[in-house]
Amino acid sequence: MNPTEKPNKRVITFGTFDVFHIGHVNILERAKELGNHLTVGVSSDALNFNKKGRYPVYRQEHRVHILNSLHCVDEVFIEESLELKGEYLSRYKADILVMGDDWAGKFDHFKDQCEVIYFPRTKDVSTTDIIQMIQSRID
Ligand code: CTP
Repeated sequence: MNPTEKPNKRVITFGTFDVFHIGHVNILERAKELGNHLTVGVSSDALNFNKKGRYPVYRQEHRVHILNSLHCVDEVFIEESLELKGEYLSRYKADILVMGDDWAGKFDHFKDQCEVIYFPRTKDVSTTDIIQMIQSRID
């Protein structure tokens, strides 16, 4: 294999990717290094509301558009339900599931379906922190 060639593997990752930031870029670029195709499941506005009690700042169509514009991302879909993770892994033929290590251990039960890898989160940045920082500057 040519050393610059990527392994013939399909990688998948999930997240909200709201108020897109450097931590998001880092995990997506690292995920893509593991294979030659990266699928991103973006959680829907409704799913976020059910989970966190608030809607994302950027609506789902905009979050999808931002992710689709990145050269490391090959395919984006809307994750409608957390219960369907296993089905999404099959549908998008994932060889590897990548998540940040804030999720460490939480997806280990998918190890019979694909490889599961947790990458360390980028330090000192999160959507929640950015929203709070902006809010505190307004108050
Ligand atoms: N992520 C990361 N490093 C960060 C922030 C996020 O590696 N500093 C990863 C998460 O672990 C996840 C993906 O990026 O795998 C999408 O995370 P998301 O929850 O959308 O971003 P957060 O900034 O963590 O958002 P929030 O503060 O709302 O939880």
